[in-house]
Parts: sequence; C-alpha cells; structure tokens
Amino acid sequence: MANDLAVKRIGVLTSGGDAPGMNAAIRATVRTAQCFGIDCVGIRHGYAGLLRGDMLPLNEKSVKGIIWRGGTMLYTARSPEFATEEGVKRAADTLRHNGIDGLVVIGGDGSFRGARDLAAHGVKVIGIPCTIDNDIACTSYTIGYDTACNTAVEAVDKLNDTMQSHERCSVVEVMGRHAGHLALNVGIASGATIILVPENEYDFERDVIERIRKARLAGRNNFTVIAAEGSACSHDISKKIQEATGIETRLTQLGHIQRGGGPLVRDRVVASYMGYFAIRLLAEGKGGRVVAMCDDKYVDIDIDEALGMTKDLNAEAYQMFTVLTFLDEGCIV
Ligand code: F6P
Repeated sequence: MANDLAVKRIGVLTSGGDAPGMNAAIRATVRTAQCFGIDCVGIRHGYAGLLRGDMLPLNEKSVKGIIWRGGTMLYTARSPEFATEEGVKRAADTLRHNGIDGLVVIGGDGSFRGARDLAAHGVKVIGIPCTIDNDIACTSYTIGYDTACNTAVEAVDKLNDTMQSHERCSVVEVMGRHAGHLALNVGIASGATIILVPENEYDFERDVIERIRKARLAGRNNFTVIAAEGSACSHDISKKIQEATGIETRLTQLGHIQRGGGPLVRDRVVASYMGYFAIRLLAEGKGGRVVAMCDDKYVDIDIDEALGMTKDLNAEAYQMFTVLTFLDEGCIV
C-alpha cells in the first residue's frame, strides 16, 4: 500500500551483543511499518551486513512465530570497518542506493554511536535500547534485562541448594563488563551474601572476607558472592576466599547463558511497545532519536543527548541490600 509519509522504505538491524526480546522488537517494527504502508527491509549481521548490502524484504509473515524466541533472526555482529568515517559514509550510501530512508537500530550504546554517525550523514535513524546490561543512560529499562536477571537467579537458586548441602561458598560470575545493574539485581533477588560491581571499589579483606566471617558467626553455613565480570577476577576471588576462610569455595561463570532463552513477558511487551513507537517516530518524519522508558512511559530523546548521559548504579538498592543481608555494623543480632 502506498503512503504519503516522510519515509517509504525502512531498514531494521540488530547490533552488538544479543538480548532476549530482540526478535519481539523486530516483529513490532516490521508489523507497525506494514500497518503504516512503509516497506520494511531486514539488514542481517548488523552494521557489517549493512556494508555488504546483506538485506532481505520483511513482512508480517516473515516475523511470525518469533515473539517468544531468544537470539535475533537478523543475526548480530560488531563491525570494526563501520567504525571508521569511510565505513559510515559507505553504509549511508548503501542505504540510499537501496531506497531506504529510515533505519531502526536495535542494540546497546555502541550500536547507538553507529546510529548517531549515520544520522550525521542524513539517515533518519531511531535507536531501540536492547542489552541485558541495562546500562543505557537515557532509559530506565533496556530490553532483555529482566529475562537475563531471571535466568541468572534461577541458576543461583540451584547453586544455593547444593552449596547448602555441602556448606560451601559459591562465587557466581554474572555478565557486566562495565556495569553492575545485573549483578545488583541478581544479588538482591537471590539473597546473596556479597555483591561485587565494577562501579564500587572494595577492600577484599573488609568487604569480602570479613562479611563472610560475620555471616558465619550469625549462623550461616553457606554463602553466595555475586560478582559482575568487570568487578574483579572471579577465579582469584574464589581461590582467596577458600584460603582465607577455609570454606570450600566453588566458582560458576554463568557466561552467555544469560543472553539466551525466550524473553519473559516484560521483555516481550517492552520490545513490542518500543518497536511500535520507533515506527511512529519515523512516520512523523523524525530521526536521530532513541526510544526510552522514563517513569514507566515511552519517550524519545535526541541521540546525541542520549549518548552524553550517564547512569549510576542504584545506590539506594545497594544500601537496601546491605541492610537485608543483616551484616552491616550494628545489624548482627
Ligand atoms: O551483552 C552485554 C555483555 O553481556 C557484557 O556484559 C559483556 O561484557 C559482553 O556483552 C560480552 O559480549 P561478547 O562475549 O559477545 O563479546
């Protein structure tokens, strides 16, 4: 169906680390576009695929049966070539040659930087925040975070059973090279003894060993340390805990399991809204924007502004965690 909108044909791509809900966002983007009479093209393998012109037409049938699937039907990649001025220019030209006047980029901060560069070459780009790290500053929520938290908590619950039987200490490394949102949430939800995040400095003797000793004095016989991958070397932590306390300690690195699996309800719903919202923005002729969640509402933010923002770890949540573990000075009964 022909349309009289500012965009006639759009592309959609997924880029950077995948996250549960990417497929749901693709589905919402494609179906909303179709409803508006906008042609939709899927670009495979992120910006690397864009440079190669790796594209396929998408319609409502192509995205059937994917809302519950993990991963991304469009594949994803990181492209060093695209990260150059020459690469960005070539990518913008490829879009123009294919008659694509709008682009939806589903991914994290790195993907948004690419989107901003394309916007500077006149492409109407809308970013949809999607990463299990929940570390995109302009939005309180990123697609995939809830599912990844649940995957990790389910694993920690299972570890807790066996740690309790053997009276051991469990060090669980969760994802988060630069951000501890996932570790903090997982630690709170699994009743961990200690949470280590890249944002907070810690003293090993005081913040790890002393806390385990206090927990033992308070009657605990098994312990859980949740360590974000960017917080420390989890092998060292595990080894040093055993040496210092004599408690048998086991390390589990959850790794990419956290990025897989079908999205839970929250991620399916947020992804659906964000995909829908992104196309509405393009249909209004907007570009250079990022869809974000703010106070439970969907809003759009200038991409430059979005990339200039910073996001702190929720200090109150961290404080609450220490109170609930009952290990702060004065809290031990
Ligand atoms: O998806 C985000 C993230 O999980 C980071 O926490 C992690 O450091 C990174 O991706 C690892 O991704 P990859 O192994 O794909 O390079």
